[in-house]
Amino acid sequence: MTTEPIREDLAAIPRYVPGKALPQALKLSSNEVPYGPLPGVAEAIADAAGNVHRYPDMGVTLLRDELSARLGVDAERIATGTGSVALIGHLLQAIASPGSEVVYSWRSFEAYPIAATVAGLKSVQVPNTADHRHDVDAMIAAVGPKTRAIILCSPNNPTGPSVTAEELDRVFAAVPESVLVVIDEAYREFVNDPELPDGIERYGDRPNAVVFRTFSKAWGLAGLRVGYMVARPDVADAVRRCVIPFAVNGPAQAAALAALAAEDEMRRRVALVTSERKRVVMGAREIVPDVPETQSNFFWLPLGERAVEFAAHCEARGILVRPFAGDGVRVTVGLPEENDAILEALRDWR
Ligand SMILES: Cc1ncc(COP(=O)(O)O)c(C=O)c1O
Repeated sequence: MTTEPIREDLAAIPRYVPGKALPQALKLSSNEVPYGPLPGVAEAIADAAGNVHRYPDMGVTLLRDELSARLGVDAERIATGTGSVALIGHLLQAIASPGSEVVYSWRSFEAYPIAATVAGLKSVQVPNTADHRHDVDAMIAAVGPKTRAIILCSPNNPTGPSVTAEELDRVFAAVPESVLVVIDEAYREFVNDPELPDGIERYGDRPNAVVFRTFSKAWGLAGLRVGYMVARPDVADAVRRCVIPFAVNGPAQAAALAALAAEDEMRRRVALVTSERKRVVMGAREIVPDVPETQSNFFWLPLGERAVEFAAHCEARGILVRPFAGDGVRVTVGLPEENDAILEALRDWR
């Protein structure tokens, strides 16, 4: 059967696998926060609902202005999109040219190979170190004349560790300015090691720095799809040209503003997650000693060939986790009782 006119390379793209969802099951498979929307968010959505017969503000002006004031960067340097996953795709579309490459670590966020192939860039995947961190020196060595961007996922989904300031400094020092250094900080709010850098604060003034953030995780808006990036003005402008017109809808814009207004409560919830993270990782290490350090709202069980089997064991007990066949299992930090349930599942499995 002919597949023309469909591009042949699309068939080779691994499909994005969403974290499983089953009614009644504990969902620890998608790195969401477990506390519901932040105060004021549902009301903001309800108010905005009365206007959905109109197109939203395509410039996402209020939200970009608010982010600009908070982050101390000009609004023209901010682009918004339907989740940072969409924006990452748009950035790659904006920089792809025939034969060009993007370097990133593996295993890392599963959307990178998809976005790269769709955009027409070749993926250069650099294996993580034995302790599940980015191998920054090998990544630098993989940058060549065809490289357009190097992506550092910090903290890294799905393994958990962050890239240090010293490592990022090395990347910026080593790669030419024509290569974008993309720092994906989807989980930045969960970082509580003061030594770890804030990508916007530390590298925001570099011409080739691009930092991605999202409202999906700590800010509790995964279902509304709002993400943003900060880059130099012409890079942000190029990305905005690729974004589908009116991508971020009106209720989503209103909800993101309301979420920002509830920052104190967001921080309180994040502190609950990070304190549980410490407890659950310590418990998990009693059974799987090499659980890597995590600065995120999830942890990694490097179970290799037993990953799928453990996920099935959890599912049989009504707990959904995210297995990566042959490699490991990512588990989201949830409510205390959910974390107890996963620890119990681990103990029983041993
Ligand atoms: C590392 C990383 N980047 C980006 C995203 C995309 O998030 P969203 O598209 O919901 O903003 C995710 C979501 O899982 C992620 O783990």
